[in-house]
Amino acid sequence: MRTLEGLWLDRTSRVTLQEQLARQIKELIQSGVLAPGDALPSTRDVATGLNISRNTAVNAFDRLLSEGYVESVARSGLFVSSSITLSPHSTWQVRPKAGRGRTLAPAPSRPTPLGAPLPFRPSQPDVALFPLLIWNRMRARALRLEGRSLLRYQAPCVAGLPALRQNVAAYLRDSRGVRCDWRQVVITSGSQQALFLLGMLLLGPRDLVYVEDPGYLEARLAWRRAGAKVIPGPLDEQGLRLPARPVGKVSLVYTTPSRQFPTGVSLSLARRLALIDYAGRTGAWVIEDDYDSELRYGAPPLPSLQSLDRSGRVIYVGTFSKLLFPSLRLGYVVVPEPLLETFVELKHLIDDHLPLVDQATLALFLESGAFYSHIRRCRKAYAERQALFLGLFADSKLPIAFPHADGGMNLTGILPDDRNDEALSRRLGEAGFDVPALSRYAVRASPPGLVFGFTAFTPPEIRSAFARMRPELDAALG
Ligand SMILES: Cc1ncc(COP(=O)(O)O)c(C=O)c1O
Repeated sequence: MRTLEGLWLDRTSRVTLQEQLARQIKELIQSGVLAPGDALPSTRDVATGLNISRNTAVNAFDRLLSEGYVESVARSGLFVSSSITLSPHSTWQVRPKAGRGRTLAPAPSRPTPLGAPLPFRPSQPDVALFPLLIWNRMRARALRLEGRSLLRYQAPCVAGLPALRQNVAAYLRDSRGVRCDWRQVVITSGSQQALFLLGMLLLGPRDLVYVEDPGYLEARLAWRRAGAKVIPGPLDEQGLRLPARPVGKVSLVYTTPSRQFPTGVSLSLARRLALIDYAGRTGAWVIEDDYDSELRYGAPPLPSLQSLDRSGRVIYVGTFSKLLFPSLRLGYVVVPEPLLETFVELKHLIDDHLPLVDQATLALFLESGAFYSHIRRCRKAYAERQALFLGLFADSKLPIAFPHADGGMNLTGILPDDRNDEALSRRLGEAGFDVPALSRYAVRASPPGLVFGFTAFTPPEIRSAFARMRPELDAALG
């Protein structure tokens, strides 16, 4: 029997307790904390544990039953549905009910073809802009320089190839103002691995993590997976607000200060200083996820939060997924000295080191300046695409507002208050679009909105996709 640890209900929220409970149990299932076939506690125990009425718990479970997340077995109780599978695109799906028991989903008869993102899937770079010829040249050069050593196990490379760590440190110091020695830079399999490892390292059961709400879902799932309790922090025009009243001892604050994901708001200087002060006073760690800060159009990127920190509490995380290509799976974390040794030990247990050929290629790509030319090219192309996208919406007079549009890969459009963003996102999905609802990223109520990505699509693709999407939006919002 699984207890539902880590659930947190906000009694001041506009979202009902029943809705909050159902959403959070769904997240536990989606993150794998609860597996298909796991027994759930009784509604009586849930009600007592969370100090809510029995009816509230029953209604939340009824909802999970009707959506297929949970199934009831006569005289045994409630279980996580055995018919839940993870689709190839990482969206959790509930398959139609089959027999009971912990059976695996049948394997698809044919492998799913590798595809391109549907419009307007968020956070996707345009891989057509990537200079593959130059990359291949660098790869050949790396192999010529290092020979077959790149093909061996290399125990000293657990934290990454030294040449790459040195180049990343130089880039972070020059472009992002990050204060670090190259030995603090650890190369990870995308920033997601860095977030997961930091969760394992810094969090234990019931520790409190303060996160942006709405915010990056996969980070939240990683904190929950470590057993921590997630406390949603509200956003306003200056970004994340610190807790207004005591919430207990916070172990970790997770933030995307340069461009909040997914709303796009930047953390103001006053809030940055307040956050650093809070971390220094309370001993909390702060994770700065700087996933796409280079992509600021019309103004230079904002300096990193870590560059302002004198207390050594900010852990800087970054990725090459957005600036180069996501399947490269290379990211990095600047680990504060006191955590470095244990972080590297943990990294050693998960995958020893990452592919050395790719790391050596990337080191040359950075060193040669090709990296910087590529960023400039992307910035220019993406700025044009963003302007086109915003122009099409402005001309359409649709009631969608884009309050934060100074850069990035996504534009979050805020809908009129009375609209249901999940229903609209579903409707767009049926019409061949991939536009998530803002509420999908939220723990508490958020204004209804849609998160559009524009970077992966050329101007003609944006125009034609917008023309196809327009009737759906007109019908739902007009
Ligand atoms: C805010 C944020 N952080 C981290 C990531 C993870 O990127 P990756 O694991 O590919 O480096 C993403 C991906 O979309 C993201 O949006």
